[in-house]
Amino acid sequence: MDQRHVVIVTGGAMGIGRAIADRFARDGAAVVIADVSGAAEAAAEISATGAPAIGVFCDISDPASCEKMATEALDAFDRIDTLVNNAGLYSTLKLTDFSDISPEEWQRVLNVNVMGQAFATAAVLPAMQAQGAGSIVNMSSGTPFKGVPYLLHYVASKGAINAMTKALAKELGASGIRVNGVAPGFTMSDGVKANPHQIEKLQDISQKARVIARDQQPEDVVGAVAFLASQDAAFMTGQTLVVDGGAYFH
Ligand SMILES: NC(=O)c1ccc[n+]([C@@H]2O[C@H](COP(=O)([O-])OP(=O)(O)OC[C@H]3O[C@@H](n4cnc5c(N)ncnc54)[C@H](O)[C@@H]3O)[C@@H](O)[C@H]2O)c1
Repeated sequence: MDQRHVVIVTGGAMGIGRAIADRFARDGAAVVIADVSGAAEAAAEISATGAPAIGVFCDISDPASCEKMATEALDAFDRIDTLVNNAGLYSTLKLTDFSDISPEEWQRVLNVNVMGQAFATAAVLPAMQAQGAGSIVNMSSGTPFKGVPYLLHYVASKGAINAMTKALAKELGASGIRVNGVAPGFTMSDGVKANPHQIEKLQDISQKARVIARDQQPEDVVGAVAFLASQDAAFMTGQTLVVDGGAYFH
């Protein structure tokens, strides 16, 4: 029998990350929810469905916290097949003229959205290298492709993720580790729904830009992530799939 797939989903306690974690659980994987808040509760809900799951506290902007995340995943499930680098700051960010974004706010966003993905990746790397296989899926966004205004720190952070996905794919390919990305459009995640200022400003614009004219839901994103993590994508690396109802064409 095939070994059970082990996946870590950062920011998996809610929103898009939670939908991804639920999908992996339904597909039979063992799931590690890594989050700054609500990880244990989300893991308990997944466990209640019969899927193996643990919740670990992890702040991805802290390398030591990421290392602890990897250790706890290995202690529980012995291997790490997939890291979904989903955690990020978005829905709570204020839409602002770029010149009004303070240096501290720039740094806060880059620490989590860029360095956080690098730290989480570095933490799982020894296990994946020892296995000679692994898959990393980086959560990007449609914003750097479209050049969305008034969120320059965020757009820059996700542009960096697109670049890191390509460069890391080259760096890690020889180790049998694939690195890909998924770039959703504006999505009705828990975080977005809890921050009406984002919905008021972006929902209508986003819908009008789409070929498929409806709201994007977290569940719309999970198929691309599950595919990229699977053996169906065994010959794909360095790619970022845009999942946005046809708002942006590469
Ligand atoms: N919602 C959208 O419109 C949208 C669109 C494109 C891309 N994205 C990206 O998708 C990802 C998830 O977005 P969402 O809207 O589902 O978010 P959300 O706000 O609903 O959930 C984010 C989760 O990440 C966790 N988190 C935040 N900072 C963390 C940290 N430092 N370490 C660990 N966990 C942390 C939060 O606790 C939360 O559980 C983000 O990377 C976001 O940039 C979102």
